[in-house]
Amino acid sequence: MVHLGPKKPQARKGSMADVPRELMDEIHQLEDMFTADSETLRKVVKHFIDELNKGLTKKGGNIPMIPGWVMEFPTGKESGNYLAIDLGGTNLRVVLVKLSGKHTFDTTQSKYKLPHDMRTTKHQEELWSFIADSLKDFMVEQELLNTKDTLPLGFTFSYPASQNKINEGILQRWTKGFDIPNVEGHDVVPLLQNEISKRELPIEIVALINDTVGTLVASYYTDPETKMGVIFGTGVNGAFYDVVSDIEKLEGKLADDIPNDSPMAINCEYGSFDNEHLVLPRTKYDVIVDEQSPRPGQQAFEKMTSGYYLGELLRLVLVELNEKGLMLKGQDLTKLKQPYIMDTSYPARIEDDPFENLEDTDDIFQKDFGVKTTLPERKLIRRLCELIGTRAARLAVCGIAAICQKRGYKTGHIAADGSVYNKYPGFKEAAAKGLRDIYGWTGDASNDPIIIVPAEDGSGAGAAVIAALSEKRIAEGKSLGIIGA
Ligand code: BGC
Repeated sequence: MVHLGPKKPQARKGSMADVPRELMDEIHQLEDMFTADSETLRKVVKHFIDELNKGLTKKGGNIPMIPGWVMEFPTGKESGNYLAIDLGGTNLRVVLVKLSGKHTFDTTQSKYKLPHDMRTTKHQEELWSFIADSLKDFMVEQELLNTKDTLPLGFTFSYPASQNKINEGILQRWTKGFDIPNVEGHDVVPLLQNEISKRELPIEIVALINDTVGTLVASYYTDPETKMGVIFGTGVNGAFYDVVSDIEKLEGKLADDIPNDSPMAINCEYGSFDNEHLVLPRTKYDVIVDEQSPRPGQQAFEKMTSGYYLGELLRLVLVELNEKGLMLKGQDLTKLKQPYIMDTSYPARIEDDPFENLEDTDDIFQKDFGVKTTLPERKLIRRLCELIGTRAARLAVCGIAAICQKRGYKTGHIAADGSVYNKYPGFKEAAAKGLRDIYGWTGDASNDPIIIVPAEDGSGAGAAVIAALSEKRIAEGKSLGIIGA
């Protein structure tokens, strides 16, 4: 008999024997709410495929399916020195990448902490100035300022940005808590290039890259079995190579030197999957997360799967249980009532708590939120973290299954990166199990035909390889995007 495992994921650790009936009932209700069973996943995948296809039509759909204008597979022979920058949620990373031309690369990097409140500054110039200043510091540190040649730069900008060519990125909307006015609707490349020029830095932005596309290309550079680049981090997204002839919305827009059978990297931006809320198993907490976010109605899939929201989901449930008089009774929850006070490191650390009495969890709640927890309460909290993390992993892989089924990939490597993938306890296992459940694979997991593997450095090496491919196209006089862009 085919055994796909229990319908409900079991608690990974600890017994529930001493949890009183009241709390146990709540745990069972949470299990019902937060469990995405195999049947649900398959339903999600089916709708996902339709939506991916819709995104490629002229009419378009919810999922942007943005052509990334990387029209070659890297050969591994790309060589030279490149700068790469990656604007993440908390840091700006600047990398000098030396591509050897022999499938290998060397990187030297520095991180610059984004000033507090930069994500929501009212003055967009501050963001570009900060990046340009950091670039200048890096050039000084690395003694690059005296080079005669202009250094080509690959700019990893991991937000939905439309591209009519590779060195352009018109921000559609901020995600992941960024909310800076007067950037949406604008091309961010000249905004940054101006600040670079003001400082007379010998740098030219030659490519704007989504982190997923960078991950895809960097991983393909070292492993041609790579089928997708995916990020499970603060945000969630995936990229793959499509074929120009299958991208209806590009019909009639391409220059003659781009053949119909040319590959084209697509940044799916599938964090916006199911914005109409047709198939995702949303709970009332997901609804609150959405309603209280700066962009309600957007990024429905991301809000259930990415690191930016996991801690907040946990917090919302705990506050509600307290308000119902079920736990943390009679305590001052002022701190815990602050939205987003719990980032993903909280559920991650709680899941990692090695002690039978969940002592680390006790410490966290006392020190950071000033509340005392009983052991049964901590058991509920831990179980809830498992449920939220497992659900995120299982839903997140629906994007992978959908792309693989759409493209007809039966085997291959899915290159994954991001803080949740790399750091959230049990995420990798739950993601692999999710894929197995969708496909009904049984037997030894090491023989699974499609596996998720740790990616190469997308926003460093990937951005550099893409910058190299872009430079080569420029040198050969080839078009970089749609006609006239
Ligand atoms: C962004 C994507 C990005 C993903 C992972 C999402 O919020 O819209 O562009 O790839 O996060 O970083």
